[in-house]
Amino acid sequence: NRLWLVVPAAGQGRRMAADRPKQYLSLLDRPILAHTLARLHSAFPDARLVLCLDDDDRWFSPEWVPFTDWQRVTGGAERMESVFNALGAIDAGDDDLVLVHDVARPCVTCDDLLALHQATQQHASGALLAMPVADTMKRASAAGTSLHTEPREALWHALTPQGFRYRQLYQALDEARRRGTLLTDEASAVEALGEAPKLVPGRRDNLKVTHPDDLALAAAILTAQRD
Ligand code: C5P
Repeated sequence: NRLWLVVPAAGQGRRMAADRPKQYLSLLDRPILAHTLARLHSAFPDARLVLCLDDDDRWFSPEWVPFTDWQRVTGGAERMESVFNALGAIDAGDDDLVLVHDVARPCVTCDDLLALHQATQQHASGALLAMPVADTMKRASAAGTSLHTEPREALWHALTPQGFRYRQLYQALDEARRRGTLLTDEASAVEALGEAPKLVPGRRDNLKVTHPDDLALAAAILTAQRD
């Protein structure tokens, strides 16, 4: 079976309030996108990469793509649409594995990528990197007051990558699209089919670069990981 890597990179990253989409912001020596693709390539050099980019993207350069086997697809208005477009554009077999990874997570390690890949092979419902919640969790009212405290034992942060078999993921996203539900990860779509993807404990430093402060943090993480 083939391994496909889908990287949604068609977002604008508005919360960064920068002059360009966040995946093109410089992190140490290269744009975020170049780091993310290099990490994926180090774990899966022979996989086929499917990169979702905005048609109006004027920042992208193919020199940042280390894969020999890759294609560009048109992103959608929402992350899920970008991923669905990628699945629609490829000629994958039903049981091929598809790992979806946010371009905005450049600090993912090779070990975590390999662990997630292995779990995806082992679990028919797929798998996702995730991290147990460490803070006390509050349920808020609309007025911004704390209504009660959620038991955190059963709460996890969903990270990426998330891995599934092609046919299952395609059906899950197709269903979600028909229902018009706005999802922020693939696992939610698969859960809606009654499946229970495996939570694979991932590293805490698999940060999603979202806010301006995150850039310095991501740079520190990458530097520490090199030591
Ligand atoms: O903005 P946020 O960090 O939540 O986006 C998550 C990922 O989805 C990013 O990698 C972003 O580039 C991607 N995305 C996309 N198409 C969109 C919106 C977001 O590929 N329309």
